[in-house]
Amino acid sequence: MGGRSIMKDAPKKITVPIVREAKGRRKLTMVTAYDAPSARIVDEAGVDIALVGDSLGMVIQGKPDTLGVTIDQMVYHTEMVARSTARALVVGDMPFLSFQISDERTIESAGRLIQAGAAAVKLEGGGRTAERNRLLREIGIPVMAHLGLTPQSIHQMGGYKVQGRDTETARRLLDEAKRVQDAGAFAVVLEGMPAALATQMTDQLAIPTIGIGAGSHCDGQVLVFHDLVGLSGDRTPTFVRRYADLRVTAVEAVKKFKADVEAGRFPSEGESYK
Ligand code: KIV
Repeated sequence: MGGRSIMKDAPKKITVPIVREAKGRRKLTMVTAYDAPSARIVDEAGVDIALVGDSLGMVIQGKPDTLGVTIDQMVYHTEMVARSTARALVVGDMPFLSFQISDERTIESAGRLIQAGAAAVKLEGGGRTAERNRLLREIGIPVMAHLGLTPQSIHQMGGYKVQGRDTETARRLLDEAKRVQDAGAFAVVLEGMPAALATQMTDQLAIPTIGIGAGSHCDGQVLVFHDLVGLSGDRTPTFVRRYADLRVTAVEAVKKFKADVEAGRFPSEGESYK
């Protein structure tokens, strides 16, 4: 299904086959986007994949975890992001309870994200979830898998902890990686695991691995937009590299506005209607 678009003058849109074929050729980039401004920035920067992650529950709703995020909320945010991207592949995250209950619920939830403008969906887990990946793939919905530190299993993991440090869990994760690949996932996010394990997975899989807290050998890297630009506050995980400090810049700007209003310097005549 690769090859050139049959549409004349089609923008060079990143597609699922383009992502799959990047393996071994070039590094992939993925950044979360939850609304129009972040989607436009991610798209303009030339990032391959805009992920409408359920991390929005923590990042923009201020919740302690992702478990309360609903499919309605994901549809709402996916629409905003899809509307605001021209090139990046939009992937919509399947939130907790949207794919665990039944095949019907899985198809309906994934279908709603696709109707909202996503080109693919992401599902956490590799055990029974692998069969749901297969189901979606069979009806034409591409699936990105997500293994390792899977935030929707926070209570089972006992917190946000690096996974696969012991031999047994590492073996299970390797096995799950092969299962999601066999079920037809076009890529897999590897989150919070030792770099050596992520390297092993990357070498053994034919699909691209996209790492977050999984070392440098993955086929691509993903970061949360707000962490990357410094809008998340001071406490960010070790694996985050902050490329800007927009929070500090924004607080300074708002302070200056406040001072100007209080001193009568804003608005000026030029900023007022005659
Ligand atoms: O929800 C999310 O943003 C994610 C990424 C951190 C991979 O799953």
